[in-house]
Amino acid sequence: MTQAGDASHAASRSLDQAFGAGAVASTATAPGRVTLVGEHVDYVGGHVACMAVDLALTVAVRPSRDGWWRAAGLGQRVERPAPMMAGDIGDRLFAAAVALRGRGRALPPLELAVAGDLPASAGLASSAAVILAAAVAILRLAGRRLPAEELVAIALAAERDIVGVPCGDLDQRAIVHARPEEVLALDSARGARRSVPWPWPAVALVVAASGESHDVGGRGYRRRRQAAESACAALGVPTCQEIGDRWRELEPGLRPRGRHIATETLRADAAVRALEGGDVAALGRLMDESHESLRRDCEVSTARLDAMVVAARGVPGCRGARLVGAGFGGSVVALVEQGAAEACAAALAAVSGRDAATWLVRPAAGLEVIAADAVGGDEGGS
Ligand code: GLA
Repeated sequence: MTQAGDASHAASRSLDQAFGAGAVASTATAPGRVTLVGEHVDYVGGHVACMAVDLALTVAVRPSRDGWWRAAGLGQRVERPAPMMAGDIGDRLFAAAVALRGRGRALPPLELAVAGDLPASAGLASSAAVILAAAVAILRLAGRRLPAEELVAIALAAERDIVGVPCGDLDQRAIVHARPEEVLALDSARGARRSVPWPWPAVALVVAASGESHDVGGRGYRRRRQAAESACAALGVPTCQEIGDRWRELEPGLRPRGRHIATETLRADAAVRALEGGDVAALGRLMDESHESLRRDCEVSTARLDAMVVAARGVPGCRGARLVGAGFGGSVVALVEQGAAEACAAALAAVSGRDAATWLVRPAAGLEVIAADAVGGDEGGS
C-alpha cells in the first residue's frame, strides 16, 4: 500500500500537472470499505458488519486563482465556471464542496485532484471515499473541524442530493467511524454503531476486483432499493429488522427481495456474534450464505462473481467468500487463513484475469482516527 505521505505528494503533483503550479495544496486521505455481511439492507434500516481497508484515495485541494472550478483524476481533467454536475470526475469532487456550502460554509472556487490505490467502480466505496477525502481536504484548507456525524451527513447529502445516487449510509459511516483491527456493527435504523475487535491475528481478507465495473447510480441499484422499500411497506414494518419470517406473506414477485433483506440483517447480527465468539467457521458460512442470498434473491451477482466465489472457496484455508458492495460487478471478498492468502488471490485472479487487482486487507482506520485534526468532537456511538 502507498504510504499517506506519498499519496499526498502524488495528489498534489497531479494538481500541478493538470493545472500548473499554484498555491500549496491541502490534502486528505480516505479509505475504502469492505462489508463482511449486510449488503443491500442499509437503505431499509438493516444491520451491517463492515470495516475500512487500507486501500485509499487522497484528494489535494487549493483555491482557484481565476474563479474557475477544476478537477483532475482517473485520466480526466475538467474546468467549469461553477461546480456543476456533468457525469465526469468533477462530480464527486465538486459535490463535497457544494454540500459543505449547503451547510452554510462559505468557500472560494477550488481546484481539486485525486490519486490513490482504491480502485473505482469496484464495490469498495470509492465514491464515498473521494467525496469524504475532498470534504476533509477542504476543511483543512479552511482550517475547520467538523463533528464526525456532521461529516457523514454532508457526504450523504453530496452523494444523494447533488450527485443523485440513492445510496444508504453504510459506506460513509464505515469510512468515517472505522477503527483499526475492529469491525463496525452498524444499525441503519437507529444510527447506532459499535465496534467489535477482529479476533484472529492470522486470519485476513483477500479482496479481488472482477474487472466488471459496477454502477450504484444505475437502474439496478435504484430498483433493488424500491423493491426493498415496497416489501417493508406491504408488510407494514418500519425497517427490514421487523420482517422475520413474514417475507412469506409478500406477493410472489416481491418475496425473494423481502427474503433477502429479512435474512441478511439477521446474518449481520450473527456475523457480529461469530466475531465476538471467535468462530471463524461461522463467519465464513455467513459470508457464503450472504452471497447466495445476493445471487438468488437480490439478483445482483454476475456469472464472473459467482465463478470467483466458487474458485476462492475451493482453496484450502479459505473460510468463506462473497461479492462485496452493491454487486452488478465489482469485487469479491474472501475470508482466509493468512497462509492461504496467496493461493486464494491466485485462484480469484485466474477467474478474473486480473493479477494486479487482488489485495490482502485487514480492518483499517477511518477518518475519525486518521484525520482527527479535522473530524470529531461529536457524541454518539461507542
Ligand atoms: C453501495 C451503497 C451502500 C449500500 C451498498 C450495498 O455501496 O452506497 O449504501 O447500499 O451498495 O450494501
